Amino acid sequence: MGPTSGSNIHMNTKINVFPPKVILWGGTGQAKVVRPIIEHYGATVVAVFDDTPNLASPFPDVEIHQGMAGFRRWIENHERMQIGFCIAIGNPHGRLRLRLEEQLEHEGIQPITLAHPTAWIAGNARIGSGCQILAGAIVAEESRIGRQCIINTKASVDHEDVLEDGVEIAPGATLCGIVHVGIGAWIGAGATVLPRITIGADAIVGAGAVVTRDVPPGVTVLGIPARQLRKS
Ligand SMILES: CC(C)(COP(=O)(O)OP(=O)(O)OC[C@H]1O[C@@H](n2cnc3c(N)ncnc32)[C@H](O)[C@@H]1OP(=O)(O)O)[C@@H](O)C(=O)NCCC(=O)NCCS
Repeated sequence: MGPTSGSNIHMNTKINVFPPKVILWGGTGQAKVVRPIIEHYGATVVAVFDDTPNLASPFPDVEIHQGMAGFRRWIENHERMQIGFCIAIGNPHGRLRLRLEEQLEHEGIQPITLAHPTAWIAGNARIGSGCQILAGAIVAEESRIGRQCIINTKASVDHEDVLEDGVEIAPGATLCGIVHVGIGAWIGAGATVLPRITIGADAIVGAGAVVTRDVPPGVTVLGIPARQLRKS
C-alpha cells in the first residue's frame, strides 16, 4: 500500500520502499513522527543518532548513540546493505540534512523517502531522495521536490511548484501554483505563498504570513502582507 498516488516512483526515488532496518538521525519530535510511517511500511527502526550529548532516546525500546563517532562504532556490527536512514531534523536545518545525507551515503547506507499513507502525491510529481511527506500533505501535479525536503503535516504544495533541496514546508502552510522555493528555505506553519512567487535560498517565512512579493535569499519575512523582519 502506498500513499494516495498515481505512481510510487518519482525521479527514480522509491517512496515507502525501505531496507529492512532504518536508523533515524535526530532524536526529538520529528523522530516520533516518522517512526510509525517507517514501521507501517514494514521496516524496523533499529537505532537513533543525535549530536546532542546525553540526549534521552525518544523511544524506550530503541537505543540512542551520539554523533558520527557513535554511528561508526554501531555500524561495524551491521550489514550496510540492510540499513536505510532518515534524517529526522526539522528546519531551519535543511542544509544540515543535506550535509548529513552526503556523509551517511559516504558511510555506505542509503536514504529513505517516506510519505504518510494519507498524503496525496500527484503521479507526475517528482520527489527527491530523503524527502518526508507527512500526514494529510498534498503534492500537486508537475511539482518538483528536491532532496531532503520536509512537506509537513497538512501542508499543500500546488501545481508546478519547484522546491530546491533541503526545503521545509511547515504544518498547514500553502504554496499556490508555480512557486519556486530556494535551497534551505523554510515556510512557517500556516503561511500562504501566492502564485508565481520566488522564495530565495535560506529565506524564512514566518508562521501565518501571506507572501505577496518575491523574498530575497536569506531574509525573514512575516505578517500580512509579509514584510522583512528587521531586528534593532
Ligand atoms: C519568523 C520567526 C522565524 C521569527 O523568529 P525570531 O527571529 O526568533 O523572531 P522573534 O521571536 O525574536 O520575534 C521578532 C518580532 O517578530 C514578531 N513575530 C515573530 N514571529 C511572528 C510571526 N510569525 N508573525 C508575526 N509576527 C511575528 C515577534 O512578536 C517580535 O515582535 P516584537 O519585536 O514587536 O516583540 C518565527 O517567529 C516563526 O514564525 N517561526 C515559524 C515557526 C513554525 O512555523 N514552526 C513550525 C514547526 S514544525
